[in-house]
Formats: sequence, C-alpha cells, structure tokens
Amino acid sequence: MTDSERTALLRAFDSGWVAPIGPEIDAFETEFAERVGVRHAVALSSGTAALHLALLACGVMPGDRVAVSTLTFVASANVIRYVGAHPIFIDSEEASWNIDPQLLREEIREQDAKGTPIRAVIAVDLFGQCADYTRIRNTCNEFGVRLIEDAAEALGAQCNGASAGSFGEIGCFSFNGNKIITTSGGGMLVTNHAALAESVKRWATQSRLPTRHYEHSELGYNYRLSNLLAAIGRAQLARLDETVRRRRQIFDQYVSRLGPLSGIRFMPEAPGNTCSRWLTVALIDESEFGCGRDAVIDALEQQNIESRPTWKPMHLQALYEGATIRGGSVSERIFTEGVCLPSGTSMSDDAVDRVCDVVQATASRLTISNA
Ligand SMILES: Cc1ncc(COP(=O)(O)O)c(C=O)c1O
Repeated sequence: MTDSERTALLRAFDSGWVAPIGPEIDAFETEFAERVGVRHAVALSSGTAALHLALLACGVMPGDRVAVSTLTFVASANVIRYVGAHPIFIDSEEASWNIDPQLLREEIREQDAKGTPIRAVIAVDLFGQCADYTRIRNTCNEFGVRLIEDAAEALGAQCNGASAGSFGEIGCFSFNGNKIITTSGGGMLVTNHAALAESVKRWATQSRLPTRHYEHSELGYNYRLSNLLAAIGRAQLARLDETVRRRRQIFDQYVSRLGPLSGIRFMPEAPGNTCSRWLTVALIDESEFGCGRDAVIDALEQQNIESRPTWKPMHLQALYEGATIRGGSVSERIFTEGVCLPSGTSMSDDAVDRVCDVVQATASRLTISNA
C-alpha cells in the first residue's frame, strides 16, 4: 500500500459513499474491464463470491458435474459444493502446472458417453500463469461445456497477447490480502455477456428488483464490494504493470541465484505465456538437492523468513475424499516438492538475496554432510 491508496481511500470516505454502491465501484469496474480486455466487470466481496455466482450464471444445478484443477486453493472446489454439484478433479500438465487439457478432454468424453455430462469447467491460472485455453476451449465448445476461468492468482498475466481472465465465458479474480492487487478483501467477475453481468450484479445485491419497495423474485446474496475498497482497488490497479514487473524481477533474481544448484527448478513458463509471477515457486528434488522441501521451509523459518508449501491437491484433502480424480501424479509431485518463496513486491534485492543465502546454505550444508 502506498500514499496513492491512502489518498483514494480518504477520497471515497470523504465523499460519503461508504456503502457497497457508489462512483468508485463504477469506475473500478470500468477500468478493470478495460485492463482485462472484456466488456463487463462486476465488483464483488471476494474471489469465492465471483466463482459462486459464475457457476450460477452457467446454470450449474444440484447433482451436476463440474471439472476443476485439483492443484488449486480450496475455494475453486468449494463453490461447486455451494451449488450442490460434484467436483471432478483433473491433474496438472507439466508445461504450466495448470489443468491438463488432454486429461480434461478424456474425462469430458467419458462422462458424456456415460450419459453424465460435465456441465462446466473451472480452469485455474495457477501462481500467475494462464492455462492452455486453446485446447481447453476447443474441448468445451465441442462438448457444450461452459468454461469459467479462475484467474484469482493471475491478474496481470498474459497468454499470446490476451490477458488472464479473458479466456473463459466468465473470469474470476481475487483481491484478497495476499494477491497481486488487493482491496484487503474483494473480487471481480468479468465477462463479455451483458445479460450475464446484469444477472450477477442483481444476485450480488440480494436480487433486489428496481422498485421503490423491496421486491425479490430470485434468491440473492450480499456479495457486492464496498465503495471504500473499490477506491483502494483503483489505486492498486493503476500500479499493476509496475507490480508485475517487480514480481518478474524477483523471480529472475531467484532463478539466477538458485537455478545453478542441482535439484532445484522453478515453475516453467509455458509457450506464449508471460506469467505475472504472483509467487515464485520452486520444486526441490530431495535426492539431488540433498534435503526436501520441508527442510528448506524449516531453515527459512529459523531465520524468521516465511515460505509455504504449494497447494495440497484437492483429491488428497479429507474434505474431498472419494471424489473422482483423473491422473494425479503431477500435482502430487508439485505438492511434495513445491515451496512458495517470499515474493512480495516490496521486497528489496537484498531481501531476495537473504532468502537465497539461506536456501543455498541449506543445500551446501547438506552436500557437505552427505559427502
Ligand atoms: C485459485 C484461487 N481461487 C479462488 C480464491 C478465492 O479468492 P478469495 O480469497 O478472494 O475468496 C483464491 C485465493 O484466495 C485462489 O487462489
């Protein structure tokens, strides 16, 4: 957060628009849609709310099946349960760590042949990198499956010149505190379909109809973003290019310092992609590096440096025990070997170097003790 966010917040505060309605929301939606390259944006209280309403907008009903990347944050799957549908988990591909288009196609085809068609796909753009939408979209179009892009982690990423969030029928973003831009909490749903955006806006405001009294004909939710938070979002959005540039620099610094070590490799950038590098994620191969991912996290923690494992795949979560999974070994390896290194935009080069020193020392200590 900088002075521009503080100024924006005070501007909104002083305007008296302290409700989930007001000029900052309207402007945030317009600027955001323009930035992503879509016609409509609806500002919401969280990325989870955006995904929930996206499923409703796609007509997903109780008992339906929805395919989703297994390697993701739990919200991508939970929303499927919110609408009473069943998640079908799909493994990652090696090239981008995102949903494997081939496995997705096989699952869609198989379910279709069984007479239990998959209604929608939630493809996640993991850690700031777009999934392979050319192949995913072809399959969805062929089988009449609705496509939702969970771009919560990928604002600012691009693929073949188009922005993350613009590839699905609906794109969903998060402005949670740890995201590339934040409103402390918030989200955005984007789409090119005017009627769909209109419905989502209505559902997000308790489905109140435009009458003088309170008239409701559909179930609604309290999912709109506050005008105060929209002002912060606008100031953050204005600095997005700078933020992505810095995240990519941080990634490059990690790679140049740690890349030469044996047994460590970084999330690949698939052809056509420009990752936002929301997080720098490394895989530690214990047999080559000398110690595993957890030992690296422990060593960093001893120096008061926070790092985290990558997402634990949904098919390994007790919450989703018994759910269908197609494949699984790629995401499992990313989970057991993966560490998310400190990646905050405000990190100095020296701070990144300090993290590298600790990781490097862990490797050399183990190399010496193994010798
Ligand atoms: C992939 C993914 N989807 C959905 C969400 C949910 O967003 P929110 O926390 O804003 O509800 C997050 C992060 O929080 C996420 O990383």
